[in-house]
Amino acid sequence: TTSVTVGAASLGFTAVAKSLADVVAVPSGYAVTVLYRLGDPIGSGVGAYVNDGTDATFSKRAGDHHDGMSYFGMSATGTPDANGNTRGLLVLNHENITQAYLHPNGPTNSGGVRPEAEALKEMECHGVSVIEINRAAAWSYTTASSFNRRITPLTPMSFSGPVRGADSLKTRYSPDATTGRGTINNCANGTMPWNTYLTNEENWVGYFRREVGDAARRAATGPAGVKANTSLTRYGKTESSSSTAGNYGWWSVTPADTTSTIYSRWNITAQAGAPADGTGDFRNEIFQYGWVVEIDPFDANSTPRKRTALGRMNHEGCQIGRTIAGVKPAFYMGDDAQNEYIYKFVSATPWSGSDATAANRLAIGDKYLDTGTLYVAKFAADGTGQWLPLTYNVGPLTSANAAYPFSSQVDVLINTRLAADALGATRMDRPEWTAVNPATGEMYCTLTNNASRTVATVDAPNPRAYVDAPSTSVGNRNGHIIRLRESGDTSEASTFAWDIYAFGAGSDLDPTNINLSGLDATNDFSSPDGLWFGLPSNASGTIAPVMWIETDDGAYTDVTNCMLLASVPGIVGDGGTRSVTSSAGGVSNTVTTRIGKAPGAALRRFLVGPKECEITGIHTTPDGRSLFVNIQHPGENGGPTNITSSWPANQTGTVTAPSRPRSSTIVITKNDGGVVGL
Ligand code: FEO
Ligand code: CA
Ligand code: CA
Ligand code: CA
Repeated sequence: TTSVTVGAASLGFTAVAKSLADVVAVPSGYAVTVLYRLGDPIGSGVGAYVNDGTDATFSKRAGDHHDGMSYFGMSATGTPDANGNTRGLLVLNHENITQAYLHPNGPTNSGGVRPEAEALKEMECHGVSVIEINRAAAWSYTTASSFNRRITPLTPMSFSGPVRGADSLKTRYSPDATTGRGTINNCANGTMPWNTYLTNEENWVGYFRREVGDAARRAATGPAGVKANTSLTRYGKTESSSSTAGNYGWWSVTPADTTSTIYSRWNITAQAGAPADGTGDFRNEIFQYGWVVEIDPFDANSTPRKRTALGRMNHEGCQIGRTIAGVKPAFYMGDDAQNEYIYKFVSATPWSGSDATAANRLAIGDKYLDTGTLYVAKFAADGTGQWLPLTYNVGPLTSANAAYPFSSQVDVLINTRLAADALGATRMDRPEWTAVNPATGEMYCTLTNNASRTVATVDAPNPRAYVDAPSTSVGNRNGHIIRLRESGDTSEASTFAWDIYAFGAGSDLDPTNINLSGLDATNDFSSPDGLWFGLPSNASGTIAPVMWIETDDGAYTDVTNCMLLASVPGIVGDGGTRSVTSSAGGVSNTVTTRIGKAPGAALRRFLVGPKECEITGIHTTPDGRSLFVNIQHPGENGGPTNITSSWPANQTGTVTAPSRPRSSTIVITKNDGGVVGL
């Protein structure tokens, strides 16, 4: 084990300027290689991507909207190699699609009956890629590697943990509730020390259609149906008569696929006359989503496992904390929706170092991810906080709970949000990625922004509500990054200390109440989202705790495209308290919060992306000399007749005619071969 020292790293590059250019910009002395683009073939016999909307066979091509990503070093014999710096497996999520560019003239018949081929293509553009990559002079992926794999919304899955076999998961496809099909809207990730990948189901709710009449049919089946209605409402799935309800209309494909049920399962409306237990229709399909999913990238034939002990929500990411022999590991998770919560799962099993090299990787996952305790965070104004257990029959999580009578631990896990509500957890400004500082064990979480934070509802951990012109909307417009330190520095702790590492803001905004971290032109940012502590070893062989911050911004895109920043953060409590006054519409409210010391030159902009993109997945080789970054949905506001970005075709020069943009993985290396960022 390498020792680590806080502040051992210092950033060694010149900040990149904010930019609206349609290109990836990095500091001088660095090079960008485009590695893996939407549509790139990953199987033999699949043709090169034409990129005019006519391509098919996405089960053997890169999907769209590259998101969370992990690199796993691989030996010459195809086994995990913790020092593998020139050969590895790259695993990445395909969160969503820019539908307009996937077909010759945009989608056919939106809001009506969708053509099957288009629906199938759109489904297969979601999911996960596993690709083998190799470094010769430059990095490239291996088109015909036997490790290459696409996991899509059609891939068979198995359920693990307490909810496996539960009544609420029963469908016509899975009458025993142990299996399911696919994963969707996979956002951020988790890299397990036993060489598996966690992919997290985020905005799955929108893919389902729920027609008017469903609630009455469920209610008529008895108390379980009434509770299902409460659950669906809490997760945002209300009835709708709109023809476009159910993203992309996959449910509409006809003739209804009565045998394969690939399409009809996206309509969760209880069917008249179908059995109340859900085995005759897809009323329960939606309960099969919202989970953390574990994938073994080293076995292309393995079945991914949905890890139900980690709860059901809009899972953003799932980052494991430090692993210490004999101590139960913790997994930190955000639920990305306005006013949702931060969670941690603590395994029932203490960590054993030999598991990091075990060959039965998914069985190791069973050991740490299927049994344990799920907690939700409650922040106090004095800079402390508590982890409240989501355990059936503890506290209010009983059948006597008025808002939702809990009947079992299965019920608590499927309805994680309702359980956290009952416990009085703290409603946050949209928790996105979590990251753990390897030097301190401190956990950071991006709170990307919150359009529904009001002057009246600001509190110490979410202290800002304001207007950022030209928008006239009130809210936490630019987001912030909160961090916490477990009591006793142990992952098993039930209490913590917290402060806010940095507040997003344009450097022109009010330094007293909005630009609280004193950001300047070299590091001002908005809407932090991706967050990751790098692996790199520095020159002396110690791990450098550089934290990478990625943005997904709607408030600052009048000034700059989204970006990646590097920072060398301090520790919880290194700043102090700060009085913050939020004002809008003639009312004001002052709260006292906890703020880290101003980051200054220890926070610096490293990269700016092309037009209309978001910067998402990030990982490095173990030596830190190759940094992999995902560029998601460039040109997302355009379409076939209005191409708004030609990236990445234009990355190495100009293109003579607009080229449809493609979400892509890039690799960044330093021209002198050094560690990226240092
Ligand atoms: Fe997929 Fe919350 O970002
Ligand atoms: Ca995100
Ligand atoms: Ca986001
Ligand atoms: Ca996104």
